Amino acid sequence: MSSTGTSIRMPTPWLAVALAAATVLALVAPAGAQEPAEPPIIPRPVSLELLPGEGFQLTRTTRIVVDVRAPDDVVDVARHLRDLLRPATGFALPVTRRSLAWEDEHGRPDTRHNQIVFALDGDAGSLGREGYTLDSSPHEVRIEAGTAEGLFRGLQTLRQLLPPEIEAATPQDGPWTVPAVSIVDYPRYEWRGAHLDVARHFLTVEEVKRYIDLLAQYKFNRFHLHLSDDQGWRIEITSWPNLTAIGGSTEVGGGPGGYFTQEDYVELVEYAAERYITVVPEIDTPGHTNAAEVSYPELNSCRPDNLPSHRLYAGSQWANQPFYTGTGVGFSSLCVHDPVTYEFMEDVISEIAAITPGPYFHIGGDEAYQTPEADYVMFMDRMRDIIAANGKTMMGWAEVARANTLPGSIAQHWSTATGGQAGGNLARTAVAKGMKVVMSPANRVYMDMKYAPGVPPNLGLTWAGTVSVMRSYTWDPGAHIDGVTDEHVLGVEAPLWTETIANIDHAETMAYPRLAGVAEIGWTPQADRDWEEYRLRLAAQGPRWDLMGVDYYRAPDVPWPDGG
Ligand code: ACM
Repeated sequence: MSSTGTSIRMPTPWLAVALAAATVLALVAPAGAQEPAEPPIIPRPVSLELLPGEGFQLTRTTRIVVDVRAPDDVVDVARHLRDLLRPATGFALPVTRRSLAWEDEHGRPDTRHNQIVFALDGDAGSLGREGYTLDSSPHEVRIEAGTAEGLFRGLQTLRQLLPPEIEAATPQDGPWTVPAVSIVDYPRYEWRGAHLDVARHFLTVEEVKRYIDLLAQYKFNRFHLHLSDDQGWRIEITSWPNLTAIGGSTEVGGGPGGYFTQEDYVELVEYAAERYITVVPEIDTPGHTNAAEVSYPELNSCRPDNLPSHRLYAGSQWANQPFYTGTGVGFSSLCVHDPVTYEFMEDVISEIAAITPGPYFHIGGDEAYQTPEADYVMFMDRMRDIIAANGKTMMGWAEVARANTLPGSIAQHWSTATGGQAGGNLARTAVAKGMKVVMSPANRVYMDMKYAPGVPPNLGLTWAGTVSVMRSYTWDPGAHIDGVTDEHVLGVEAPLWTETIANIDHAETMAYPRLAGVAEIGWTPQADRDWEEYRLRLAAQGPRWDLMGVDYYRAPDVPWPDGG
C-alpha cells in the first residue's frame, strides 16, 4: 500500500484527484457549490488516506470474494453487499470462495482479479469488534476486520465510496468507481442507538424494517423499540392477551393502532441482527401504563371503581372515554402495592426476554408523576431483580437512577439539563451508582423536536425547543454534563417519539438529515468533527436519499447539491 497519499486531515480537493485518475464520480455539484475535501462518508472514518492513481472500477465481471474457509457470517456479509449493489449496477457480482492466502513465487499477493474481498484478519481485531480496514486499488477493494460485524461496518463505507446512483432501485449507467483510498476505522462509542416509539402511533413491520435499513447505512448498532405507553400496547404477551386485543386497538388521534405478534417481533429482531443491530425492547413503567390499565381492570385495584388512570386524571374530557388517545403525559401509574402488578410484570418481562437475544431490557421509568418516591424506588428495585432473573441488563430513562440500581445497568439521560440542573444530576446520580449512561439530551437529539419554529409545519413538538441540524450535531456526549465523561458514557441514542408522526414518511422527515449526525457523534473522534466540514459531507447524502425515496427535510443550513 502506497504511503504517498494525502491525509484527509488536510483540505484536499479530493474530487480533482479522483478526476485526474480518469474517474468520473457522481458527486457532481453545480458550479459554485461547495465540495467536500474528501470522500463524503458519514460517519467520518477515523483515518482516511486518499491515494494517488486510479481507483477501483466495479464492472460486469467483478466478483465478491471470501476465503475458502470463511465462516457463514462472513459469506452473509458478502451476500448482503451483492444484494445492495445488484439493482443499480445490473451486475451479477457472484459471491465466490477463493484462497486468499495465494501468493506468487515472489511472495506477492494475487492481483489478477477484479474483486471485492471480505477477509477476517486477526490483526484487524485490534481495532475492536466493529473496526475494519478498507483498501482500494485498481484490481480490488479489500475490507478486513476481526469479525463479520466489522466487515459489515466496512461494507457501509464502501457503499458510500460508490456514486450516489448505487442507491437506485433500477439499473443505472455508472461508471461505478471507488476512489483509491486506505481507511482504518473504528467507533468512539459502543452504543450508537436509535429509538422508535411505536406506541403513540403504530408503525408496521415493513415500516420498522425500513427504519432499520436506514440505521444500518450509518453504522448504528442499537435499536430501542418503545413498545408500550398510555395510548397503546404493541407487543403480544400470550399470558395477557387483552394487552394487544384491547390495549393495541387504538393510538393517538383514535386511529386503528396495531401490534406486533411475537412472530413479528422475532422477525424484526432477526432483521436487525442481520445488520448487526441489537434490539432493545422497552416496556415503560410504572407510569405511561394506561394501555395496560384499560386492558385489565385488575391492574387498577388502587383507584376508585378500578378505573384506568385516564378516566380519573387525564382531564374531564377523558372521564367517559374507553381509551386514551391524547398526547398528555404523567397521569398514569401501575398499582405498585398490589401483588397482581408483579405477576403481570414477571410475565411481560419473561415473555419478551425469551424472544430477545440482546442483553438489554428497558423498563422506562420516566415521568412517573403519580408514583410517590418511596413507591417508585420499591417498584424499580423489584423490576431490577425480575430483569436480572431473566438474564438481562436493566436500562431505564435517567429517573431509574433514583432506585437502588445495579452497577453496570444503564441510565438514559434525556432531559434538557446540563450543568448542575436536576436532569444532569440524575445522570451524575447514575454514575455514582456505577451505572453507565446513554446520552439522549432532548434539546439535541430528540428527532421529534421541530427543526425551527413551525418547521416542518404539521410534524414535531417544541417542548425541548427547536433543534436545527447544526444544533443536533454540535455537542459532545463526553462533555455534556459535568462529571459525566467518556469513562461513564456508553454512547448516544436518538429517540423518535411519535405523537405527531403517523407513518414512516413522517419519521423520515424528522429523522433525516439529523440522524446521520447522531451516527457520526457516536462513531467519529470528537477532534475530527467540525460542523462546517460536516455539512458538506451531509449535503452529499441528499442525492442518495433522493434515490432511496427518503423523505428527508431539506434543511437550509445544509448546502444540498441541487440547491435545496
Ligand atoms: C421521555 O422523553 N419522556 C423519556
